[in-house]
Amino acid sequence: MSFTWNRKDLLSLYDLRPEEITYLLDTAEEFKKVSQRKVKKVPALRGKTVVNFFVEPSTRTRVSFELAEQRLSADIINMSASVSSLTKGETLLDTVKNIEALQVDLVVMRHSATGAQNFIAKHLKCGVINAGDGAHSHPTQALLDIFTIREKKGRIEGLKVAIVGDILHSRVARSNIWGLLKLGASVTLVGPATLVPKEFEQVGVRVCHNLQEGLADADVVNLLRIQHERQAAGFFPSINEYARFFGINEHTVKFMKPDAMVMHPGPINRGVELEGSIADGPQSVILEQVTNGLAVRMAVLFLVAGCVQK
Ligand code: CP
Repeated sequence: MSFTWNRKDLLSLYDLRPEEITYLLDTAEEFKKVSQRKVKKVPALRGKTVVNFFVEPSTRTRVSFELAEQRLSADIINMSASVSSLTKGETLLDTVKNIEALQVDLVVMRHSATGAQNFIAKHLKCGVINAGDGAHSHPTQALLDIFTIREKKGRIEGLKVAIVGDILHSRVARSNIWGLLKLGASVTLVGPATLVPKEFEQVGVRVCHNLQEGLADADVVNLLRIQHERQAAGFFPSINEYARFFGINEHTVKFMKPDAMVMHPGPINRGVELEGSIADGPQSVILEQVTNGLAVRMAVLFLVAGCVQK
């Protein structure tokens, strides 16, 4: 199928057509080969400038984007909120307009406010890549998750994926739901009713409040981090209780099919949503997700940069 990528921004998988997601995954497959070579660098973004603007903390996404940009030979500027003029009261739009005035080609941004990247993308000629906004969207995380599933299982269509944990506050969950449903997977959300409200069924997923039932037929089990502050807010009685009813450990892993994959976007709370022995065990693909994130981000940067009009 001939296909031309024509988006200067990557903001959300909700916006993408299934063939666009597949094209991104196919392009990432090609870029994965670059990192397996002796010389792990290509000139695809030589002469392009990328600003990584992280207004919220990140380890995996920030390092992965920066390495992806280096592998593509881009020039890179790293900025965080604490060293930017946001601390002096400058608006986000003024900050990014000033960055753009330096003839930057791409801005990769993480922000705690839902829609922050959509807002700046409307005002900038340079490309904008969403590295996570609030509880809304984290498209490159979902792409690397879906890439890893496709690589391991050979397909997405017809697979059953269980996402377990704090769905309500998770941009990773929302992005996975949009991407997986578009590519023909079935999705079951598993967790306590406070973190997985029944209303999610309206988007075409199954909601299950019992771990054993939710895992029974899953080909893939994607676990989300349980944030300690949610306990203080009363979403569940205690971390121990959450771990007992919804954590994956040596006992509950037996609820899963023997060939089901265990995924986690990181950072992991070992002993809460996932026991260390399972995180490091044969069903886990967690570090492969990280490896694939590099290829996915190289593909996203390459395709989006190709659509920026300067
Ligand atoms: N998975 C993920 O987004 O991790 P970071 O917050 O460390 O980037």
